[in-house]
Amino acid sequence: MSTNEAYPCAHFHEATFIDQNGQLKTTKIPVVQELARTSHFPKRFIASSPPDHHPTTLLETPPVIDITKLKGNGSRTTELQRLAEAAKEWGVFLIKNHGVEGVVLDGVKDVVKSFFGLSYEEKMANVGSYKSVDNMGYGKNFVKSEDQPLDWIDRLTMKAAPVDESTNGISIWPKKPTNFRQAIEKYVEESRKALDDLLQDLAESISLDRNAFLQHFEPEQSEIKVRVNYYPPCPRPDLAIGLMPHSDSSGLTLLLEFGAMGALQVNKGSGWVTLEWPNNNSLLVNIGDLVEIMSNGVFKSMWHQVRTQLDVERFSLVYFYNPPPQCAIGPVVGGSLTEEMYKKVVVEDYVSNYYKISPTTSKEAIMYAKVK
Ligand code: OGA
Ligand code: NI
Repeated sequence: MSTNEAYPCAHFHEATFIDQNGQLKTTKIPVVQELARTSHFPKRFIASSPPDHHPTTLLETPPVIDITKLKGNGSRTTELQRLAEAAKEWGVFLIKNHGVEGVVLDGVKDVVKSFFGLSYEEKMANVGSYKSVDNMGYGKNFVKSEDQPLDWIDRLTMKAAPVDESTNGISIWPKKPTNFRQAIEKYVEESRKALDDLLQDLAESISLDRNAFLQHFEPEQSEIKVRVNYYPPCPRPDLAIGLMPHSDSSGLTLLLEFGAMGALQVNKGSGWVTLEWPNNNSLLVNIGDLVEIMSNGVFKSMWHQVRTQLDVERFSLVYFYNPPPQCAIGPVVGGSLTEEMYKKVVVEDYVSNYYKISPTTSKEAIMYAKVK
């Protein structure tokens, strides 16, 4: 039976992976946006741990950090403490008054929506392709085998920095909508300032030198990847997952969600909690594995997933902020640091091991950097 007969959709993404025997393999992944227009739900989208196994999911609003307070406009000390608590206990928090203007956020929402509104043919005609075996480009998924459950998602990942036209990645920016790249670059530029400030505040909040984390994010060589995610309506939210459980391999991740809300879930050890927050242009920050390592495990990268929803669609724009690939990072010595729980790792080695072993069922990738 051909793949086309098993899935009622006209188009497929190709995923390349190295199998257990070291062979380079290519598998076809149905375009979920097209599946979502039919009522057919292919078995391959049944998650390893389907949502109907976790019926008692709680709904919570993550801690909200007010950036104006961190800038010294009243109660700075209290806000720093709240920041430290949020990064330790949750690994995720919202930021408000972050300085990224509403028009910039609206610009991003518009281009992302119009990109996913294009037909498959138009999308393909307007995105480039990456040569390497990684998850950059349009429709790339973390697939490692022919029978791995698939995520109910369609997405596009680009490198926004360093800006180097000679790298093979730069052609990936979609040419349609015409202002796509401009809108995203504007957002990246503005939110980068907020993340740099936050890296300093995070260090200070645990009595480290303010530059302890930021010093690794060299301005010209630090890497920014931007992923835009589209979660179409799903006929079986009880069985499918939008994005499988993971922690981010980044330093920090910044997330803007729009369309339907209440889909991102975190697991703090006692089951999944659905994060819900008002649609008021707040941005969500995740602690990534690299900041967990730099903080010697004081801050925790969060284990998270995205659930699917019936009849509604959701979009997110996810910004991964990393030190330069060749940078060696490790626990920052000083302040309250007594015993090093993590060792020094080179960022690109950490990230390539992360992709090599993903997907995993728990925070396994970070073991690579743990002192045994
Ligand atoms: C990610 C991620 C969450 C979301 O892309 O790593 O966790 O809500 N996305 O799309
Ligand atoms: Ni993530």
